[in-house]
Amino acid sequence: MQDLLGGWKRSSYCAELTAADAGREVTLMGWTNAHRDLGALIFVQLRDRTGLMQIVFDSADMPETDFALAGGIRAEFVLAVRGTLILRTPGMVNPNMATGEVEVRVSSFKILSRSETPPIEVDDNCNAGELLRLKYRYLDLRRPAMQRNLLMRHKIAFCTRRYFAEQGFLEIETPMLTKSTPEGARDYLVPSRVHPGEFFALPQSPQLFKQLLMVSGYDRYIQLARCFRDEDLRADRQPDFTQIDLELSFVDVDDVIAVNEGFLKELFAETLNYEVKRPLPRITWQDAMDSYGSDKPDTRFGLTLCDISEAVKDSAFSVFAGALAAGGSVRCINAKGYSAAFSRKEIDALGEVAKTYHAKGLAWMNFKAEGLQSPIAKFLSEMEIEEIKRIANAETGDLLFIVADCNEVVWAALGALRLKLAEKLKLIPENSYNLLWVTEFPLLEWNDEANRFVAKHHPFTSPMDEDLPFLESDPGRVRAKAYDIILNGVELGGGSIRIHSRPLQETMFRLLGFTQEEAQLRFGFLLDAFRYGTPPHGGLAYGLDRIAMLICGAGSIRDVIAFPKVQNASCPLTNAPDKVDAKQLKELHIAVVKE
Ligand code: AMO
Ligand code: AMP
Repeated sequence: MQDLLGGWKRSSYCAELTAADAGREVTLMGWTNAHRDLGALIFVQLRDRTGLMQIVFDSADMPETDFALAGGIRAEFVLAVRGTLILRTPGMVNPNMATGEVEVRVSSFKILSRSETPPIEVDDNCNAGELLRLKYRYLDLRRPAMQRNLLMRHKIAFCTRRYFAEQGFLEIETPMLTKSTPEGARDYLVPSRVHPGEFFALPQSPQLFKQLLMVSGYDRYIQLARCFRDEDLRADRQPDFTQIDLELSFVDVDDVIAVNEGFLKELFAETLNYEVKRPLPRITWQDAMDSYGSDKPDTRFGLTLCDISEAVKDSAFSVFAGALAAGGSVRCINAKGYSAAFSRKEIDALGEVAKTYHAKGLAWMNFKAEGLQSPIAKFLSEMEIEEIKRIANAETGDLLFIVADCNEVVWAALGALRLKLAEKLKLIPENSYNLLWVTEFPLLEWNDEANRFVAKHHPFTSPMDEDLPFLESDPGRVRAKAYDIILNGVELGGGSIRIHSRPLQETMFRLLGFTQEEAQLRFGFLLDAFRYGTPPHGGLAYGLDRIAMLICGAGSIRDVIAFPKVQNASCPLTNAPDKVDAKQLKELHIAVVKE
């Protein structure tokens, strides 16, 4: 076999070299980022995963045939170059390039591989659509921005493993081919060849296995776990994604939070040189909803919600009276000092935002210097307006946005409006990382469609001790030992202290509408394990992709995943999912039915 490298070895990466290395003989290998032919001189920008280096081919330095070969170098050719690293002449220094003070004067080189004209430009300013970029992902991943993201993701994973290992956590793998574990999404199923008509499920999370590991005494577990959920994709969701999944025994909420705050502090210091102040703020779910209309509040700005139900409790305005009579509320956001910030058209557009969250309308009160302007003023008494002003702390120059409905709709609509307002008013500071815990989530949530309670987190979450007495009598008011970690309005992770007693777990399944037989069929292995000595335990899982997205400042988790799926849960590169041949289907005892 021809040895293409001819014994050449790379001496350094492109961007490792600095002015201090001037005079060194170097051997670099990489891709042609750009080339410029000036006749007797040819300039090539060589790219590797660290960055760029300017390479100079001078006809005076090499045989004519070699120089002619250099003239044929095109974009994305793979080169090996040998030469001397020299300081550029002062006028030639490029301050926009990390290696802009130096260049390599080539003595010899090899073209290791040629490239056709690439279908997308390998450049961070490339304006190709995302679909095309993902079809040619191997080219897209050559871009500096993508290289930085994947390098950062590696750092995050490495820091995670190191921190938790130092804290005594063991990395243990759990199966990919398993039984469905309920996390609320649809499962991806894998047919069994050996057991006709039976299916494995890919794990939505390692939840039950990590709990079994606690029963087995492994005490502190961590895994960078691949998870699979067949749910609608969004900018921060993928069908296969990675969790930093962990579980600890003999702990309560504060212990889990403490070890994770230690992790976050180290992670942000290492990746962003950002100091996380401990302890992190904590807010209860109830307070988060009341103040921010969201269980993942973005606390980088104010615009908090205010309940003005009291001010309009006897109102003749049917919209307010109706919402209150039905057990709902009337709440507002005071855009303080922004009386003049929105045109009528813009306010109407905000009303449309509220409607996408099922609000029936968005009322507003603009306290202008010349007097109150509001489409609902005519429905309100003088006293009601005064009370609203008092409770909402509204004065001249302020603009109130009001929604009346059931609490869920009011929170959702005003919560979303709050984010829109902050964006429009440019209230979100850059480079700030607001981490906080949301705690004391409701244990259960009433689901109208199913006509029963469903678990807010998952069925293995422990109720709070002080709420246990209401578990049977008033399940809706029971709070859970559950916590989410939020960063800038994104749920980074969530977890809970688990139920570790068999009778309590059985009660929980019953409240969720499972018969004893169903519970045994689906979760019998967990209930059985609880018979044999179960330590109190709890844990948490982060979305690694989401952490990487926020730390990299990327707009989508697709930008921190090497080979992501697109909106319709397919892969433009491999064209998966795809049809399989009849023989394969037959072996799996599967017949595809045409709809
Ligand atoms: P949960 O379902 O909240 O909890 O998931 C934990 C974290 O995983 C991330 N995540 C996702 N990331 C990308 N794409 C998705 N489709 C996706 N779904 C979830 C989120 C989320 O906060 N077993 C429990 C954890 C526990 O109780 O310990 C669980 O999976 O960042
Ligand atoms: P209407 O009486 O339906 O014309 O509504 C009068 C004003 O109240 C309009 O500005 C509506 O946008 C607003 N509005 C209607 N329903 C609600 C609601 N549920 N919450 C807040 N404002 C509403």
